[in-house]
Amino acid sequence: MKKCVILCVDDEKDILDSLRYFLISKIDAGAYRIEIAESAEEALEIYEECKQSGISIPLIIADYIMPGTKGDELLVNLHKKDPKMVKVLLTGQATLDGVKNAYENASLYRYIEKPWEKSDFLLTVQEALKSYIAGRKLEEMLTEKESLLKEVTLTRLEVIRRLSRAAEYRDSDTGYHIIRMSNYCRSIALAYGVEENEAEILFNAAHMHDVGKIGIPDNILLKPGKLTDEERRIMEKHCEIGADIISEHPSKILQQARLAAISHHEKWDGTGYPNKLSGMDIPLIGRVAAIADVFDALTHKRPYKEAWEVEKSVNLIKNNSGKHFEPKMVTTFLKVLPEILIVKECYND
Ligand SMILES: [Fe+2]
Ligand SMILES: [Fe+2]
Repeated sequence: MKKCVILCVDDEKDILDSLRYFLISKIDAGAYRIEIAESAEEALEIYEECKQSGISIPLIIADYIMPGTKGDELLVNLHKKDPKMVKVLLTGQATLDGVKNAYENASLYRYIEKPWEKSDFLLTVQEALKSYIAGRKLEEMLTEKESLLKEVTLTRLEVIRRLSRAAEYRDSDTGYHIIRMSNYCRSIALAYGVEENEAEILFNAAHMHDVGKIGIPDNILLKPGKLTDEERRIMEKHCEIGADIISEHPSKILQQARLAAISHHEKWDGTGYPNKLSGMDIPLIGRVAAIADVFDALTHKRPYKEAWEVEKSVNLIKNNSGKHFEPKMVTTFLKVLPEILIVKECYND
């Protein structure tokens, strides 16, 4: 393993030498080595060399007064390149401006006034290194947590897609209805004014709208003709079955998925099912899904009907504005129709 570098910068050679000898005798020589630079410019060169060789510099101790670039400016410069590096400034006279600049713009860890007390100096170095290590550990933990969270989200999405696919598999072998319908939902929602991340949740949740079909017997689900009243009542149960399958869960996607399942057959005028909700009482996902689902059902072959032409389907949607569908949602649907037709072409059964 490459040793980390502690970089000491001072224009006075004897101070540098004494710093180096002092630190060598006190730090863990297995983990760190000391590099010295007699100017800010030389320090930057060492930084670049270390960077190219993949060596990290957890700590820099820089003198404030140096010919050329001063210590505080060097730290500000390095802070832009490596904000994690812990920075200590050595000051000959109490030069407040430089210290202030380093605190404000280089996230200075400490400043030490010359001449320093050896024990204080050592304590500062030890604490600085500890703070660097703690920072890296925290960073690692956060990255690990982030990737774990990402994995959980991806797994959840995958389960949603597969479960939706399982439900749809019974009446379609391509599974394209769900893909088309979810894409329509996202396009309509974005044009309706829904934020991008919310539209993404809606897109994923919409996949589950018909998951309750798992609970509908084949003789009803696949019946080629018109359903009897009793069969229709059973068919309509797919909304509640779907909501039961998804059930309550703190995940936003699953909450939306549940709403999609329970409300995608509600109608704006209150004549839909299962809860006869009307107007804005119907959740947003239900209002979006209603149009997306009906348009897709109309334009594709179903066991009980042939595929309709786009124009005839669009007219039916227009005629149902304020009845089956929210008027603003119909206007939005018409606006994104070209986008919807592209999706339709891409995923044709
Ligand atoms: Fe449905
Ligand atoms: Fe559907």
